[in-house]
Amino acid sequence: MNKVGIGKIGFYTPPFYLDMTDLAHARGDEPAKYTIGIGQDQMAVTPISQDIVSMAVNAGLQIINDEDRSKIDLVIVGTESAFDASKSSAVYVHELLNIQPHARSFEIKHACYAATAGLQMAKDYVTLHPDRKALVIGTDVARYGLATGGEVTQGAGAMALLVSADPTILILEKDSAYTTKDIMDFWRPVYSEYAMVDGKYSNEQYLSFFNTVWNLYKEKTNRSIADIKAFSFHLPYTKMGKKALQEVLPEADDAKQKALSAIFEESLAFNRLVGNIYTGSLYLNLLSLLENGKGLKAGDRIGLFSYGSGAVGEFFTGLIAEDFKKGLASDKYTELLAKRQQVTVAEYEAMFTQNLPEDGSALTIDTANDSSACRLVEVKDHKRSYIVK
Ligand code: HMG
Repeated sequence: MNKVGIGKIGFYTPPFYLDMTDLAHARGDEPAKYTIGIGQDQMAVTPISQDIVSMAVNAGLQIINDEDRSKIDLVIVGTESAFDASKSSAVYVHELLNIQPHARSFEIKHACYAATAGLQMAKDYVTLHPDRKALVIGTDVARYGLATGGEVTQGAGAMALLVSADPTILILEKDSAYTTKDIMDFWRPVYSEYAMVDGKYSNEQYLSFFNTVWNLYKEKTNRSIADIKAFSFHLPYTKMGKKALQEVLPEADDAKQKALSAIFEESLAFNRLVGNIYTGSLYLNLLSLLENGKGLKAGDRIGLFSYGSGAVGEFFTGLIAEDFKKGLASDKYTELLAKRQQVTVAEYEAMFTQNLPEDGSALTIDTANDSSACRLVEVKDHKRSYIVK
């Protein structure tokens, strides 16, 4: 059987951020509540020139080359921020990334779980067709509304995963444990701009789903915590992952507990700066782990927990590949994060409330403050147009 998994990872987040200390002051909260209690330092802020399509393309452009373009048979976009109930964002992405025409392109929805659903489908496809590749993208803008309980857990960004045989970064293992249950912890009716959430209940359910699939995974595989070098979590905010890790740490001896805690803290670097990116959050944490986790080596097993409200949970594992550092576009993420511009709370609020026309009128978007490779430049007759430089 071929080894199949993640060959390359691309990451994009918009060029603006808000410091959480500034947000805490504006909302009359203690900054420590945000930076320690929630575990976020900064939050990505999205200008009107970026949407789920442009962000997905920006993440994809970081990693794909012409050989990939000719071999990609599947373009799967996971999102819960779709702007069209019919036309799939994957079709725009396929076109803008110039992928060979005879590909299947489609969008999947299941809250933050959608990219994982896409990744597992892509893994199965490439296992059957090892000479071909698949591009899976998670792209979202997390919006709860100004001065709401969820505001501190907003963010925006896209993760692009190139799935191939003999992957450079992570070999996905066969065994996986998953579960589905109809619950109302977080949802967004199509008429609402903002997510609705039962915050405390969603935290409890996240932990409950994690325990369920972790125990199921151990039963299925006869593995234990000793077999896991590091956990990677869907991180709506970094404290959530910390709570999940604490659920399983008692299963390990002292030395293992220390090692798992240390590498988990190292893995949080990027998520602390970006916030929740919904479908991409787990993969941002994986990337951050691979970039910042000390002592990782080929063959180490990473345990990944994906959670999508509503709800589906999945625990699966991957083995670090021989040349994983070579698959990471490290310079690009470092530059992307370093070049972001800090905004004030007033600027963030102005960007947050700027809307595209919904009556078919035309708007040409001023992209002077956005040097991203792909940008939304015009809306006219209810149609969006993008440029790629
Ligand atoms: P809240 O009521 O603002 O915060 O809601 P809190 O009062 O619970 O405080 C948060 C933490 O800060 C607490 O720590 C406090 O003790 C601490 P904890 O007890 O949890 O360990 N704290 C302080 N720490 C240090 N210094 C201080 C201080 N003050 C307080 N001075 C909540 C927080 C996360 C519920 C809210 O922001 C929210 O509703 N967020 C959105 C929902 C969410 O993110 N849920 C996560 C699980 S569901 C999920 O992950 C799926 C999702 O991504 C969607 C999808 O699937 O598509 C959301």
